[in-house]
Amino acid sequence: GKLAVLYGGRSAEREISLKSGAAVAAAFERQGIAVEKIDVANDGWMQGLKADFTQVFIALHGPGGEDGTVQGALECLGVKYTGSGVLASALAMDKFRCKLLWLGLGLSTPKFIELTAGSDWAAIIADMGSVIVKPACEGSSIGMARAETAQELEAAWQNAQAYGRVFAEQWVVGSEYTVAILNGKALPAIKLETDAAFYDFNAKYLSNETRYLCPCGLSAAEELELSELALAAFNSLGCQGWGRVDVMRDSDGRFYLLEVNTVPGMTDHSLVPMAAKQAGLDFEQLVKAILAGSIS
Ligand code: DAL
Ligand code: MG
Repeated sequence: GKLAVLYGGRSAEREISLKSGAAVAAAFERQGIAVEKIDVANDGWMQGLKADFTQVFIALHGPGGEDGTVQGALECLGVKYTGSGVLASALAMDKFRCKLLWLGLGLSTPKFIELTAGSDWAAIIADMGSVIVKPACEGSSIGMARAETAQELEAAWQNAQAYGRVFAEQWVVGSEYTVAILNGKALPAIKLETDAAFYDFNAKYLSNETRYLCPCGLSAAEELELSELALAAFNSLGCQGWGRVDVMRDSDGRFYLLEVNTVPGMTDHSLVPMAAKQAGLDFEQLVKAILAGSIS
């Protein structure tokens, strides 16, 4: 049947999604596979899809696309799609609830607390020291800020609130790694190095100073431990097909889960394509492997 790439949408990550979708569509076209790009910000995208398409590559990031809503619509339409299903997508979009689940399973994640208007800012800083403030349901580090004082914490919460529920997570001094998952296997891990305060939106998409190490420099045993933690996190949410798990490693070598992305960036400079290349899969082979892993 005919293939559509869903992209765009209305989330704060719309611009990234337009790039991911365009790169994915171009990779199919280079292989002679016809594909139509559909922007889900346009009303009526569902009617067109139901009439003409049997398969969809989801290249939507953030709420209203990566969070189970579009997946639910596609279930109702009976159209096959890439990546995780409704429940896993919704869970993975909510970093706070993921962390609750990982705590319950004994999977390592940094200490955290939900922030509300009634939070005791000074007590949180006294307990956790340096923290990073995150909207529970955003991507690409949107709305995130570090805080080391009660004042900074309250200001960071004020700012992040625009994106919905907010939590503070203990800052892990160490290095950030990311592990791409493809059809049940972990791809080689990537180490991210930035001179910024953290791997923020600028470091992710704009800076030329961010360094990506793949191979990541860990010993084989350490990378195995990292891959197994990433796979356990992915499976704990019931994720399927593909995704990317972000992990911190502290100075004592302990790993901490940050989040699972069920529709990671797919621009030519994104991390999953980088890991796939290290595993011997070029971008064209990668998009076909993701499509082949579609659930029905
Ligand atoms: N949320 C962005 C697109 C990523 O995880 O790659
Ligand atoms: Mg994310």
